[in-house]
Amino acid sequence: MIAESVLILDSHFAQTNDGQDIVEGLGKVPKTLPAKYFYDDRGSQLFEQICQLQEYYPTRVETEILNGCADEIAQITGISELVELGSGSSTKSRILLDSYQKKSQYCRYLPVDVSSGILSSSVAKLELQYPGFFIQGLAGSYEQALNFLKSHKQTRRLIFFLGSSLGNFDEHQSDLFLEQISNTLNPGDYFLLGVDLHKSLEILEAAYNDKQRVTEAFNLNMLSHINQRFRANFNLSLFTHQAIYNQAQHQIEMYLCSTQDQHICLAGLDFEVDLQKNERILTEISRKYDLLDMQNKLQKHQIKPLRTWSDPQQWFALILAQR
Ligand code: TRP
Repeated sequence: MIAESVLILDSHFAQTNDGQDIVEGLGKVPKTLPAKYFYDDRGSQLFEQICQLQEYYPTRVETEILNGCADEIAQITGISELVELGSGSSTKSRILLDSYQKKSQYCRYLPVDVSSGILSSSVAKLELQYPGFFIQGLAGSYEQALNFLKSHKQTRRLIFFLGSSLGNFDEHQSDLFLEQISNTLNPGDYFLLGVDLHKSLEILEAAYNDKQRVTEAFNLNMLSHINQRFRANFNLSLFTHQAIYNQAQHQIEMYLCSTQDQHICLAGLDFEVDLQKNERILTEISRKYDLLDMQNKLQKHQIKPLRTWSDPQQWFALILAQR
């Protein structure tokens, strides 16, 4: 059941043509599927498991950095509305909420997630833990949420986007996204961005090919999600998971590889497609950044970096920036 404290961003803020991006992606060479289809309720649960894996360092390192700088962030931003894009179980946001609470600094917390299941259960827990704060979940895509926020301007707002999720957009998409963020912020508002930095191939590939094969299950789950949502007939046992680091592009590329020639029907989209043996569908990229490049990029979108925190090995960084 969905708690009242979760607002479903429905048709009013919806993109038209649900699933057209799947048809487009499967029409490309090489074929792709949009990463947003990872996150149905089961996908979100699997992702929570990925975040706890030994090999998956980003969550652990980002949490350490956040533990060290959250008080300072609360200090700099003052009383704020905190908007988290892709909140999942809101584990990392608690660190920030604790800092605001410690200062008896009132805040509103608006977690945004496409999975209404994980959102309603985490909002219910947060409401008990932070009785003094106004908490409202927004169930929908980033785009829906940003459109909603534009029409609900607050005095001071901090939008945060952690987990290096920006790296899951290509160059063009991340420019569009940062432009939307910039337009959603009022002058003086803040943006907190978590980014994964360049590092060795071994560490990177291990992070996306865990021994327990949770990442494999996560990748394959996209196909069951699409099967259910669009009446498609992907057979999961005819695909394997592949994650490789493309060193020239500084990005992890995640694929689903077809183990035989096959014909797929997506009845709900009135679309059919052939796959050859060993043909790969790209499901995700995860870009790894140079810190200076990212700071310059934010600047270009009128979001000015104020402070940056990193870990001793410089594996990951948190950038606090201001519109
Ligand atoms: N933002 C995360 C990242 O790029 C997303 C992610 C982690 C992910 N592991 C994954 C996406 C496995 C797909 C599959 O690291």
